[in-house]
Amino acid sequence: MAILKVARLGHPVLRKVAAPVPVGEILSAEIQRLVDDMIETMREYNGAGLAAPQVHALKQICVIEVHGNPRYPDAPAIPLTVLINPVVTPLTDEMEDGWEGCLSVPDMRGIVPRFGSVRLEARDREGNPIDVVAKEFFARVIQHETDHLNGIVYVDRMRDLATLTHLAEWNRYWLGNQEQDE
Ligand code: NI
Repeated sequence: MAILKVARLGHPVLRKVAAPVPVGEILSAEIQRLVDDMIETMREYNGAGLAAPQVHALKQICVIEVHGNPRYPDAPAIPLTVLINPVVTPLTDEMEDGWEGCLSVPDMRGIVPRFGSVRLEARDREGNPIDVVAKEFFARVIQHETDHLNGIVYVDRMRDLATLTHLAEWNRYWLGNQEQDE
């Protein structure tokens, strides 16, 4: 396994659309190694999730995991989840505001509106179909990560850039005032 280099805002790879992984290739050594490396990279940098374009691979793959994360100490736990070719369908018109950060936008946070409930269809790393309803924090992380597969970064979704906040100032002025989220 290897820790991969994470592209930061401004790198063109973050603005490209990722290609689906042919289902017959999911079990290939190349894809399995990429998934393993993405998990290791996400854990190394304390991400709540990581999408393949962030590590310069334009493939529809994301990994998500939250437990005991020092970047998100109050976030609900999410077990390790690997999503290949995810399709996200909103199940509500209502958007909820929450804080997000991104390993490609280091040391920043901002308030982003997201659908509170979504249907998630995808494949897992064995190629098995996933079809679940995700709500609240898990729904938020799914929307954040799948946006990366379409060249979208969370700052694009912000309604008010006045909340775009350096982490040091966030800890100073916002922590405790707002629900923490990703
Ligand atoms: Ni991100």
